[in-house]
Amino acid sequence: MTDSGSKLKIWKFLKIILSSLLITVLLLFTVASIRTLSLDVNVGLQLAHWEKTNNISLVIDHHQREELLANFKEAIRIPTVSFSETEINTTALLEFDRFLRKAFPTVFSSSLVHHELVGNYSHLFRVQGSQPDLVPYLLLAHIDVVPATESDGWEAPPFSAKEMDGFIYGRGTIDDKGSVMGILQALEYLLIKGYAPRRGFYIGLGHDEEVSGLNGAKNIVRILKQNGVQLAFVLDEGLAVIDGIISGLDGPAALIGVSEKGSATVKLTVSMLPGHASMPPRETSIGILAAAVKRLEENPMPRLFGLGPERYTFEHLAHKFKLPMKFVMSNLWLFSPLLGRLLERQENTNAFVRTTTAVTMFNAGVKVNVIPSLAEAHVNLRIHSAQSLQEVLDLIHATVADQRVKIELVEGFDPLPVSSADEKSFGYQIIKKTVLDMFPTVTVAPGICVGNTDSRHFKDLTSNIYRFAPAWFKPGDPQRFHGINERISKKNYEEFVVFFFNLIQNCDIQKLPEPHSSVHEL
Ligand SMILES: *[C@@H]1O[C@H](CO)[C@@H](O)[C@H](O)[C@H]1NC(C)=O
Ligand SMILES: *[C@@H]1O[C@H](CO)[C@@H](O)[C@H](O)[C@H]1NC(C)=O
Ligand SMILES: *[C@@H]1O[C@H](CO)[C@@H](O)[C@H](O)[C@H]1NC(C)=O
Ligand SMILES: [Zn+2]
Repeated sequence: MTDSGSKLKIWKFLKIILSSLLITVLLLFTVASIRTLSLDVNVGLQLAHWEKTNNISLVIDHHQREELLANFKEAIRIPTVSFSETEINTTALLEFDRFLRKAFPTVFSSSLVHHELVGNYSHLFRVQGSQPDLVPYLLLAHIDVVPATESDGWEAPPFSAKEMDGFIYGRGTIDDKGSVMGILQALEYLLIKGYAPRRGFYIGLGHDEEVSGLNGAKNIVRILKQNGVQLAFVLDEGLAVIDGIISGLDGPAALIGVSEKGSATVKLTVSMLPGHASMPPRETSIGILAAAVKRLEENPMPRLFGLGPERYTFEHLAHKFKLPMKFVMSNLWLFSPLLGRLLERQENTNAFVRTTTAVTMFNAGVKVNVIPSLAEAHVNLRIHSAQSLQEVLDLIHATVADQRVKIELVEGFDPLPVSSADEKSFGYQIIKKTVLDMFPTVTVAPGICVGNTDSRHFKDLTSNIYRFAPAWFKPGDPQRFHGINERISKKNYEEFVVFFFNLIQNCDIQKLPEPHSSVHEL
């Protein structure tokens, strides 16, 4: 074999490799472009023929506006605070109970509505449907709120419901008394107008959601189970209409939560013999624990972007972005590793990429001249949908990798199952239709809740749990959630009432319409 002959062979070989690479790239690009053009969009069932069941319309007149706002403000003024799992304001909860009966006399007296108290302070309403073969659904909300102190920087006292510039300020205005009051106010108006539902439904109002719902939501679930109830879907709080929150996204988007991250609280402990500071050991319990904590912070949980429902959010919103983001988001099959690296750079988007690790407590030492025998830290993790609690615990053990650090799970649960968001998903499509009828310019997309809600207790009663309320979040608003200056505009609260008024009627259809045209024909 001559020298030039082998060069020729190498050249030929290179040419084959290069041309097949080029073909692959071209093919990928073509597929990617087609996907960029064809991905739906808002159309789906919206063009299909829906059975008309929203026969009663709500035109809010001056008198009703005054009335519904007065009711809402009164709800905000009752400080139904959950301080901790063992400390809730039961006085306020009892007052809230009396208030509900006074504010919604028709709900509490209608022969169609059965009401019961659950766990002393939570409420379960059953609204009877005329067609028992239609599977009932459940609207869920919670009465309790997180603590709030005016001195933290509130512009108005947090339980004053003070009105400023068209907004009502107060703890609970978003989380979650907008839904509590919106649902009951809607039902009150429907019943007054003589409405009788075809499809029966439940309303559950928990009293301890902010401290995990063990007495409220959990007991509501127990009662429903005892009665053999299965639910078509559950709608709880969670996500909202976001407007100007995601940079690059053109126009508002209503995100309907189809799942929630899991959670784990882990306690790390190092115990050693106590000693005097004058003769210290080479390593103290504090040093050992600090090193373990540092390893956890330096070795974040693996990047899983694209393997959970966050994928659907980006795919649904892709067409609302400009190129090149539009191209990237329409083709997560190719670009999810790239996008994951971009998103992990910011704290708020890193939460979508992985299980997050937050060291929340670190306690050690009692005296300046004593080597402490015990050092303790708590780590709070929010588990990505593509991981399990057990996998996360195994990774913590592997990362800490020090026998002297005892690792205990304080509490935890797996990520919630992912509810479907396709054209056959009754709950999702009803919520979507109700949103689009009210807000035609909004893009509706499935989303993931990084926090938890009472609805997680309902997973044995239905596989269709959605987390959404028609609150409009503009820049700065997400920080008000559990923060200072929580508020809602008067107009937006009215929209809550109208939303539930329409949603309840929309649920009366016998079944979803057949899709008008499939996504790929568009
Ligand atoms: C609503 O009105 C239509 C006629 O406009 C009627 O066919 C339908 O049965 C009504 N639906 C309900 C739930 O009352
Ligand atoms: C509990 O609620 C009542 C009103 O129902 C209020 O007067 C009281 O100050 C609240 N207690 C605390 C500790 O916030
Ligand atoms: C409800 O009240 C009763 C009597 O006051 C008490 O024994 C019970 O523990 C309470 N239940 C809950 C869930 O708070
Ligand atoms: Zn809440």
